[in-house]
This record gives sequence, C-alpha cells and structure tokens, in this order.
Amino acid sequence: MKFLPERFLTTDGKEDEGVRDPATAVFGICPERFAAYAQLWISVACLLMVFDIKPGVDKDGRPVAVEAVFESGIMCHPKPFNCSIKPRSEAAKAIIKQTVGLIG
Ligand code: HEM
Repeated sequence: MKFLPERFLTTDGKEDEGVRDPATAVFGICPERFAAYAQLWISVACLLMVFDIKPGVDKDGRPVAVEAVFESGIMCHPKPFNCSIKPRSEAAKAIIKQTVGLIG
C-alpha cells in the first residue's frame, strides 16, 4: 500500500527484467493484453475529452483533498471519495447525450 518504486529493482539496484512488472502479475501470457491496454487508453481519452474531473467541494465551496485509500481484496477498489464530474462544454454535453442515446 506504499509508493515504493524501488521494489521493482533487483537486490543489487538494477532494473528487473520484467519479472516483477505488475503487468506480468495481471496478464501473465494473456494474448489480449495489448487490446486491454488500448481499450483502457481509449476509455480514459474519451472520458477526459468530454468531462472535467476535479476534487469535490465542501459546503463552503472549497476543494476537498482526495486521499488515495483503497479497499483490500483481490480486486483493489478505491474507497468512496468526493469528486466533481461535469461536462466540459455544451459541445461535450451534446456528445454525452448522443452517446447515452446510443447505449440506452
Ligand atoms: C483486462 C482484461 C484482461 C485480463 C486482466 C486478463 C488476464 C489474463 C490472465 C491472468 C491470463 C492467464 C495468463 C497465464 O496463464 O500466464 C489470461 C489468459 C488468456 N486471456 Fe486474458 N485477460 C484479459 C482480457 C482478455 C480478453 C479480452 C481476451 C479475449 C478476447 C483474453 C483472452 C485470453 C486467452 C485466450 C488466454 C489464454 C492464453 C493461453 O493460455 O495461451 N483475455 N488472461
């Protein structure tokens, strides 16, 4: 649960040859990992294109600091946190409505 990037170095301080790369633990030899990375990239890019994602605000309108706190378990989800997700513009709103219309 700590930010310790040196954990990926070997004991003599060299870069690990990928053995401890988290991608190895997540995907192993999964042949679709490249599609999964591409899909993730596309999803995040689409969300950032249309939404302004910021920390939430308290009752006085001041931004609330987001703490990186996670549930424990095999799938490690963030605990609920306050945030603000709003369309970036009227044009973005139109794209979101159009997309929701395609899904719903
Ligand atoms: C985030 C998405 C995915 C994750 C985390 C994931 C993870 C994994 C893992 C851990 C393995 C076992 C690898 C090993 O034994 O070393 C695996 C195998 C495999 N995955 Fe995925 N996978 C994902 C998406 C997909 C998708 C979308 C497909 C197909 C459309 C797919 C097809 C396969 C196949 C065919 C294998 C067996 C490979 C073999 O034994 O030769 N995976 N995957």
